[in-house]
Parts: sequence; C-alpha cells; structure tokens
Amino acid sequence: MSSFITLSRLTFFLVICFFVWSSSVELSSARRDSHWKHTRAASASLYDKKFKSKRPSKPSIPKSPSLPPETPAPPSKGNNVSPYAVFNVLDFGAKGDGNTDDTKAFEAAWAAACKVGGSTIMVPSQFIFLVGSISFSGPYCQPNIVFQLEGTIIAPTSSKAWGSGLNQWLLFSKLKGITISGGGIIDGRGSVWWTDYSLNDLADNEMKLIVPIDQNPQHNTSQIPVSNNELNGKMPSLKPTALRFYGSFEATITGITIQNSPQCHLKLDNCVGVDIFNMSISSPSNSLNTDGIHLQNSKDVLIHSSNLACGDDCVSIQTGCSNIYIHNVNCGPGHGISIGGLGKDKTKACVSNITVRDTIMHNTLTGIRIKTWQGGSGSVQGLLFSNIQVSEVQLPIVIDQFYCDRSICKNQTSAVALSGITYERIRGTYTVKPVHFACSDSSPCTDVTLTAIELTPLQETYNLYEPFCWKTFGELSTPTVPPINCLQIGKPPGNRIQSDHDYC
Ligand SMILES: *[C@@H]1O[C@H](CO)[C@@H](O)[C@H](O)[C@H]1NC(C)=O
Ligand SMILES: *[C@@H]1O[C@H](CO)[C@@H](O)[C@H](O)[C@H]1NC(C)=O
Ligand SMILES: *[C@@H]1O[C@H](CO)[C@@H](O)[C@H](O)[C@H]1NC(C)=O
Ligand SMILES: *[C@@H]1O[C@H](CO)[C@@H](O)[C@H](O)[C@H]1NC(C)=O
Repeated sequence: MSSFITLSRLTFFLVICFFVWSSSVELSSARRDSHWKHTRAASASLYDKKFKSKRPSKPSIPKSPSLPPETPAPPSKGNNVSPYAVFNVLDFGAKGDGNTDDTKAFEAAWAAACKVGGSTIMVPSQFIFLVGSISFSGPYCQPNIVFQLEGTIIAPTSSKAWGSGLNQWLLFSKLKGITISGGGIIDGRGSVWWTDYSLNDLADNEMKLIVPIDQNPQHNTSQIPVSNNELNGKMPSLKPTALRFYGSFEATITGITIQNSPQCHLKLDNCVGVDIFNMSISSPSNSLNTDGIHLQNSKDVLIHSSNLACGDDCVSIQTGCSNIYIHNVNCGPGHGISIGGLGKDKTKACVSNITVRDTIMHNTLTGIRIKTWQGGSGSVQGLLFSNIQVSEVQLPIVIDQFYCDRSICKNQTSAVALSGITYERIRGTYTVKPVHFACSDSSPCTDVTLTAIELTPLQETYNLYEPFCWKTFGELSTPTVPPINCLQIGKPPGNRIQSDHDYC
C-alpha cells in the first residue's frame, strides 16, 4: 500500500517536472503563437503545440522556425505560466458562418483557456459566430483570461433555442481578472423579442408625467407594442440579458459593442472591481426594457468613455451597489441614468457613493433619476451628479419615491431613505419638466444640493411644466435657471434619527 503511494507520488513528481520543463521550452518560442489578427489558416498553424497536443482529434502542426517575427502579443495581465497561449475558437471547430451552431466550439475553447492563467480566447474578425446560451465560468478557471472579441457573436432567434426562457445568453461567472476586449460585436438580435411583451415588461412610471399637447397622459398602453404572443406563440416571456458577469473580481470590458439585446445588454451582479470603458451599447429607442448596463450588488465599478443607446435606462444601479463612478459617457436614446427602482415588494435597499459626471444625455426620457417603490427600507446616500449636459431630455432631474410600473400601487408609509444628493452644473434643454422631486411623506429627501443648474425649455409635442418638489429638503448654493423655489431649505422638522429601518 505505502509503496503504491510512493510510486504514485513519484509519478506525480515526474509529471510536474515534465510540465515545468515543457512550459519553459514553450515560453522561448511562444511569442510567435501570439499573432492573433490572422487568417484562419495562419492562426491554425500558429496554434500552440503544447495545447494542441492535449486534443488528440487535431494533429499537431509543427512550428516552423523560419516564421518571421510577429506583432506583439495581445495585452495579458501579469501571470506566471504561458502568457501568450491563444485559443482560437476556429481551432476548436467553430465555423463562423453565421448559421452553424458554434456553441460547442466556444465551450471547448473556453475549457482549454480556463486551464491557463493569462491565456487568450480568440474570436477572430470577419467571422460571424452563432452561439447559444453559454457559460464561461470558474471557479476553477485560472485568473486573467482575455476574451478577445474581434468578430461578431450572434444569438439564436428561434424559440426552440431558448426553451422556457433564460436569464442570460452569455455568462461569465466566478472569474478573477477576466477581460473582454477587442473591436467585435455581441448581437442579441432582439427584435424578435421586442414585439412580444409580457406582464414582466412594464411601462416606465415617468411616462405618466409626460402629457402630449392636446392629449391625455401617455400611460395609455398604445405606447407599448401589442403582444403578438397569440399570433406567433414564439419567444418565452423571460427575456435573456445579452452579457452577464456574476461573482467576478477585477473584470475589464472594453472595445466591444453589445447591440440589440432581447433585454438588458450588460449586467453585473456580485462583482467587485470592474472597469468598463471605450465600449458601445446600441439598440433602438423603442426596444422595450433594454437597459444598457445594469449593476447590482457590485462595488468599485468604473464606467467611462462609452456610448450607450438603448430603449430603457442607459445605466441602472440597483441595490447593493457602492463606489460606482461613471464619467464621459454619452447616453441616448434611452431613459437616462437611474438608481433603482429600489425597495420593491417591501425589500431593503442600500446604495452609496455614486458619482456621475462629465456626461452627455441626448433625447432621453430622464437625465439622472432615483426611483424607489413605496414600502421599501434601507437608504441611498452620497450621490454626486456633476457637469451633465442634457439636450432634448424630457425630465432631466428626477427623484420618484412613488415608483410604480403597474397602473395602481398602494400608498405605504415606509420608504428607502434618500440623503446627500448633489446636483451641480446640470445644463441644457428639457422638453417636459426640468426638476421633479417627489419624496416620501414619512421619509423626506434630505441634503439635496443644487448648484449651477441651467435648464431651458424646448417646446416639442409635450406640455411643459414648472419644477416640482414634494418633501424635498436641502440647499441651493447658487441661483438656478429656472428658479427652483419649491426646494425646502434646511432640514426637515423633527430631524429623523436614523433607525434600524434605514440602516444599511
Ligand atoms: C393613446 O395614445 C395614442 C398615441 O400615442 C393615441 O392615438 C390614442 O388616442 C391614446 N388613447 C387614449 C385612450 O388616450
Ligand atoms: C477603443 O476600441 C476600439 C475598438 O472598438 C479600438 O479600435 C480603439 O483603439 C479603442 N480606443 C482606445 C482609446 O482604447
Ligand atoms: C467612493 O467611490 C470612489 C470610486 O468611485 C472611491 O474612489 C472612493 O474611495 C469612495 N469613497 C468612499 C468613502 O468609500
Ligand atoms: C398616495 O399619496 C399621494 C401623496 O401623498 C397622493 O397624492 C395620492 O393620492 C395617494 N394615493 C392613494 C391611492 O391614496
């Protein structure tokens, strides 16, 4: 028995020795494996021999020592083993013809990349990959993998592919140091979903504030496309998010475009340390419930230098988020940048330290908005909205503590407490109402500061309104245009002591 153990230990030791030796041999010549902007044939021939040999189905193509020096490797975060290992999905059988289901090839490429810290999974340009629902997931994957997206990934549009509905299409889960980069496109081909709406898809509450000239409020349902479920009996009512990151640390998303998602385009939940920049989200303004970036239970998230155009919130910040910094973003069309809806179904919500600055909003429903449901608890604290240029925005500044996307919601006393909200240098044009602050009777908004607000009306097809405030306390540190006389200066009477109720 003990000699057997000794023997197996020895074998294990020898295997490790071989592995260390072979990877150091590989390292010297690995650079030329890194050439990733190549044709299929070239990339196949450059494929790292070591990893190829692990797949008996494919013959190993020996490297030619006469290969010319190649361009530098794709960026790879510091790691130890094989920094230049590249796994091209074409080498795993992907066709990239836009018709063949390439899901299995992507899964195989991922399985290989997962084992190598700092490796790159390559989705080459000029190919269109049809990929079904897929999970790129740890927790047993090595850190710092780069998903280099240069080509296009498209989603299936047949109802069969989606079964009874899925939460997401592409999932990156439980990874450390994951990067998605490149100039490629993730296309959810969502138009087949937008025409179907279920009770999960509801109108935006702020639509009720918009009254077209000579018409009733717009919350009339003709705004919403009529369900054609009966007509084609097709897509499931649960619509997938295009790209979702779950439980990941130190993630980077850059360069790519995510377009036409069935629902939300990019969702982060339970993530810490995410850098999103130089990316685009693109969907038509009438694509129902297509949020741009949706953040939930996530901390230390940076979103900058990006264009977000969609049919719902450009960025939606939900409960459990803190230290979120958004700057140099273009938003529109869309519903603006929103915190909430928080506190739905009497839940507790906690959001703190959110900054949105140096941002342009064009042709959006709201600019910056906080929305909470009645009956919730918890708090929103420490928000800064600075230097936001709005043009043709219906409702540039909104706090709505009576959020309700059904036609009737019961009045309740409890509310998510809002405090420490600064608006400075919010400038441009609005088409309905410059400021709408509707705070809770029992829990007024406090420490709301307005500085250098300059909003001028633009008569389009809607009735124009004066600023509105209800139970909103704070200060005006400069005159505003228009005057916002409805803000109550100072603190609410009987200054509420923080209770367990709003403790976070
Ligand atoms: C609903 O809005 C549409 C245009 O958006 C209008 O034609 C229709 O008359 C409205 N219906 C009601 C009941 O207001
Ligand atoms: C932004 O991403 C594009 C690809 O979409 C790339 O070509 C460009 O170099 C990137 N710019 C910066 C500043 O990173
Ligand atoms: C607030 O968030 C920013 C990042 O957006 C961070 O740098 C800062 O340290 C945070 N402040 C606090 C008090 O946590
Ligand atoms: C709920 O409260 C608001 C503000 O106090 C009031 O305007 C509204 O009529 C109430 N709604 C119901 C259904 O009681």
